[in-house]
Amino acid sequence: MSKFLKIYENCKQVSEKILEAREKDLFFRVISHLDADGIAAAGITSHFLLRMGANFHLRIVQQLREENLREIQESKESIFVFTDLGSGQIGIIEKNLPPESVIIMDHHPPEKETTIHQANPHLWDINGATEISGAGITYLVAKSIDNSNMDLAPLAVVGALGDRQDKGEQHRLNGINAEIVKDGINKGVLEETTGIRLFGRETRPIATALEYTTDPFIPGLSGNHGACLKFLTDTVKIPLKTNNSWRTISDLSQEEKTKLVSELIQYMLGPGEMTSEEAQSIVGVIYILPKEEKQTPLRDAREYSALLNACGRMKKPGLGVAICLGDRKKTLEEVENVATDYREKLSGYMGWLIKPGTITQMEHLQSFHGGKVIDDRIIGTIASIAISSGIIPQDKPVLAFAESGEDMVKVSARATDYQVQRGIDLGAALRSAVKEISSEATAGGHNIAAGAHIPIGTETKLLQILNKIIKNQLGENGASNESKY
Ligand code: C5P
Ligand code: C5P
Ligand code: ZN
Repeated sequence: MSKFLKIYENCKQVSEKILEAREKDLFFRVISHLDADGIAAAGITSHFLLRMGANFHLRIVQQLREENLREIQESKESIFVFTDLGSGQIGIIEKNLPPESVIIMDHHPPEKETTIHQANPHLWDINGATEISGAGITYLVAKSIDNSNMDLAPLAVVGALGDRQDKGEQHRLNGINAEIVKDGINKGVLEETTGIRLFGRETRPIATALEYTTDPFIPGLSGNHGACLKFLTDTVKIPLKTNNSWRTISDLSQEEKTKLVSELIQYMLGPGEMTSEEAQSIVGVIYILPKEEKQTPLRDAREYSALLNACGRMKKPGLGVAICLGDRKKTLEEVENVATDYREKLSGYMGWLIKPGTITQMEHLQSFHGGKVIDDRIIGTIASIAISSGIIPQDKPVLAFAESGEDMVKVSARATDYQVQRGIDLGAALRSAVKEISSEATAGGHNIAAGAHIPIGTETKLLQILNKIIKNQLGENGASNESKY
């Protein structure tokens, strides 16, 4: 059986378990992850549960902790559903909940073997970092429950983009994600096109579209409206207004678009460290939600995902779920305000990051410590932007720290595709490193993006252990110590 068929079969079995729980009229306690993928997965789950007429409660968490499980373990007549998390925390779930009452839909590497009903690509040798997201696996289960849930395919795409799974040529979604895109197109709820990957191509003044784009993060332009206006007027030299209204990117002629792209690429290759591949990535595949009203940011799946991400990181995940469930108007206005606040916060943090002396270099690692200055919900995003944009060198993985409460430190680790190809697996490295640190430390995640929580004061020890593990990972895969990763 092909691996695709195996995962569909896996999702079918999990969907049967859900239908069985519904038949017994059990109460669904759903716990999902705080990022865009987790919120999209929660949105899909809420949709299918509502459509089944099930009673449920939803909770969004940054990290699944034992106390979250203790809080719900007394719930009688319940089924516990975990989305975009759970597989990495099987130990604490088994310890605190009856395994037969648990369902996991996740794409993180499973911590260990289990009898829990779990839909997970890693069980079938499918890459959970690039081929399917937490929202994607939840979508496959929803589709198995009822084909009418195929209208939720756009949310699976939003989740995959939130997790930066668009690793195909020209930022296309690959693997099972591509199958989900096909479902969406067949149902008329998704379109795929190629164009300039700036936020708000149809909706925002060109300078704002440039200012709001953070993937790729363009040092000097992202988050800086004045600099974007100057760049467009002085360098690109395109009229930004017709009559008295601001033009959007979709208003530009082909010639103007070509000029904009070529000037942007030249700018990105200029003073910074951006590779030509990153600079070229300004053009690529765009996923559109045609059922969303024109002029709203929800028509572009990447912008949709950025909005959900902002909600999660700004402690308003409920707003994000409401959007997934179809709330618009006032809710959308609120979400856009949250996104504006989030962008401002992010741009302040980026200012902090580029100050001299922030980054510490080691032989196989680099790191920065946000202390109490950087919100522990946002440290992961800073690490992602830092390494993907070339603001910090791209020759080694980065480890970012931020204090999390009084006693703990949040760790976010990020690598590049190239480093992963060379054998680096940050999830495996962190999982093994924290074992040497403290029994209170936890870790998990993918090869390219992983995280941990460790006691304050153990950061240096973690860095030293990790430096060695990464050296070994590179060695095992034939990389010589002198070579650049
Ligand atoms: O828990 P989950 O798998 O949803 O989270 C993955 C996280 O890693 C996301 O926040 C995503 O943005 C980040 N990521 C990244 N760079 C990648 C892949 C994922 O920063 N290349
Ligand atoms: O929080 P951050 O975005 O850095 O997380 C990167 C990845 O590591 C996510 O997939 C997240 O679920 C995972 N992670 C984990 N255990 C932790 C911290 C993060 O599995 N203690
Ligand atoms: Zn995810």
